[in-house]
Amino acid sequence: MRRTIRRLLVTGGAGFIGSEFVRQGVRRGYQLVVVDCLSYAGDLKRLRQVSRDISFKKIDICDRKKLEALFQAEKFDALVHFAAETHVDRSLKDNLPFIRTNVLGTQNLIDLSLKYGIKSFVHISTDEVYGQSLKGFFKESDPLKPRNPYSVTKTAADLLVQAAIHSFELPAMIIRPANNYGPWQFPEKLIPVVISKALKGQKVPVYGKGHQIREWLHVSDCAEGIFLVLEKGKIGDIYNIGSCFERRNIDTVKTILKCLGKKNDLIQFVPDRPGHDFRYSVDCAKICKLGWRPRVAFEDGIKSTIAWYQTNYQ
Ligand SMILES: NC(=O)c1ccc[n+]([C@@H]2O[C@H](COP(=O)([O-])OP(=O)(O)OC[C@H]3O[C@@H](n4cnc5c(N)ncnc54)[C@H](O)[C@@H]3O)[C@@H](O)[C@H]2O)c1
Repeated sequence: MRRTIRRLLVTGGAGFIGSEFVRQGVRRGYQLVVVDCLSYAGDLKRLRQVSRDISFKKIDICDRKKLEALFQAEKFDALVHFAAETHVDRSLKDNLPFIRTNVLGTQNLIDLSLKYGIKSFVHISTDEVYGQSLKGFFKESDPLKPRNPYSVTKTAADLLVQAAIHSFELPAMIIRPANNYGPWQFPEKLIPVVISKALKGQKVPVYGKGHQIREWLHVSDCAEGIFLVLEKGKIGDIYNIGSCFERRNIDTVKTILKCLGKKNDLIQFVPDRPGHDFRYSVDCAKICKLGWRPRVAFEDGIKSTIAWYQTNYQ
């Protein structure tokens, strides 16, 4: 049965996936309050087309007082929590901001959701919490073995939500998406880095030999899956979202260069990321049973993403 949700809080809604979720949420008629501190990764331009339809609050989720004032003023039915520090390379240089936002910020949201009686709390975790997988697909019940500082903080957040479900009956659900791509992604992640460097005719850095494998999920499919869980997911459950479309990074890079009419000699192999996970891959049978399917094929999604960056690069 579909849940009735009117007022929905979205944290990190000025980010890449959060903003796609907000744009879809407006089309679906939700009353949305977006909270985002507008870090280097947050950008209100992503919300320009829906700015009149949402309420935006520039709040850091670690600022408990401001966050509590918001919970007091707005009677939220539900929240979807995207806000996070998200770039693995940055966490390797300095993990404190990751611990602050991903762990302490999540705990603030859990505490306030319990205090103000939120009816559903959707936590956006990641497939990286499982650690790397050399073969097979991770199921939601598999043990968590994160291997880099970012994924450890995301695992802490995931487990804090699980603890609140078990100890305090927080009505939460957890979603673990695969690697997302699509328009509006900040050019520090693989696909937008490759597109933006290649558009400028610059060398395209590839870690190691580029043999790492990632499962690519279009951001619009991811956001649709999150809505499905929000509306029909079972409280207390965990849902993977992936695409079953896996590729070596080097092949993804070559596809992008080909689409842009650039030669492979733009590729520059650079020393591998320390502790680089080889492969992530998730089993999505559980969310598929709710009625979700990825709709964007990688060949189409990558072409439209490239076209978007060509038009909107500035
Ligand atoms: N991008 C992916 O491929 C991917 C895959 C799996 C899971 N995830 C998870 O999905 C979520 C969204 O990822 P994304 O790629 O859109 O990230 P992003 O980096 O594009 O956006 C993060 C947003 O959070 C905001 N934010 C950061 N710290 C904050 C704070 N202290 N208070 C309030 N706002 C803050 C930023 O300003 C930004 O708008 C994250 O939780 C991430 O771990 C992402």
